Amino acid sequence: MLKEQQAFETKYMNPDFYEPVPAEIGKQELNNTHLKIKDLHKEYKNGFKAVNGINLQMYKDQIFVLLGHNGAGKTSTISMLTGLFAASEGEASVFGVDMFNQTDQLREFMGVCPQHEVLFELLTPEEHLDIFYDFKGADPNPDVKWAEINKLLKDVGVDDKRHYVTSTLSGGNQRKVSVCVALCGNSKFVVLDEPSSGLDLSARRQMWNLLKEHKKDKIIILTTHYMDEADILGDRIAIMSGGRITCLGTSMFLKHRFGVGYTMTIVKTTNLKNKTVLPFIRRNLGQDVKKLTEVH
Ligand SMILES: Nc1ncnc2c1ncn2[C@@H]1O[C@H](COP(=O)(O)OP(=O)(O)OP(=O)(O)O)[C@@H](O)[C@H]1O
Ligand SMILES: [Mg+2]
Repeated sequence: MLKEQQAFETKYMNPDFYEPVPAEIGKQELNNTHLKIKDLHKEYKNGFKAVNGINLQMYKDQIFVLLGHNGAGKTSTISMLTGLFAASEGEASVFGVDMFNQTDQLREFMGVCPQHEVLFELLTPEEHLDIFYDFKGADPNPDVKWAEINKLLKDVGVDDKRHYVTSTLSGGNQRKVSVCVALCGNSKFVVLDEPSSGLDLSARRQMWNLLKEHKKDKIIILTTHYMDEADILGDRIAIMSGGRITCLGTSMFLKHRFGVGYTMTIVKTTNLKNKTVLPFIRRNLGQDVKKLTEVH
């Protein structure tokens, strides 16, 4: 089965830039606890092809990061998955629900934070979460509901602004509210398009912690331009360029494959043989250490 998954995901990409998923995670396909995108394409009305064939799987309890430059096609991909734009070609399913034909079912467990804010200017953060929680039809018990809302507002750091109308909040705080809206109401499938744009460093860290804490039982897709964000949050990272996935794997795989990481320069003061140096470093720093000549 793993071979088939690998062949599926590498249909439009160079298999050398692909890291297969561990068997334990790949098994999710049997339980339908994954998301599967097949042959996804998007051609806009003006003839521009923004997405040129994407085959991907994403898994529960994981954050899948789409990392790409401006115009790579991240938002176009996400917009098709959330139903904002129709796909020109392709299929997608999540938790066994057909994303293009069973949208009512999908909306019961999907949470979205779009790239550009779409909050209600005259509502407060608390009111946003109150109504979006009810829209999702999550547990109506007020104790459960308010425990979740209070925790989200606190964890993301807008608790002190919960009664301010949105139009008076800073751009960063509005972004935080949008992320809370996407997560609230027990969303099982969460789509976050550049959730940390406009946040300062400490707010970004706070958001990273929030997302890591909330990924259990969820499939989260997140787009970003920041490599450090992809590194810290992504269980799997897909690099997107020109409407295609060009590389897919864990951050460790990408660093090995492309030589991104730390470079250590060592100067020997004794006549120590080179072959004893590497094992010594690996013993102390870990087996992932490579000589620069081994990095392709
Ligand atoms: N409605 C549209 N009509 C025509 N072309 C579009 C449309 N929307 C997006 N595009 C083009 O599709 C390409 C991909 O855009 P998209 O917004 O998906 O990229 P992105 O990876 O999200 O970029 P960014 O990081 O800047 O948000 C871009 O070249 C963009 O100009
Ligand atoms: Mg975008």
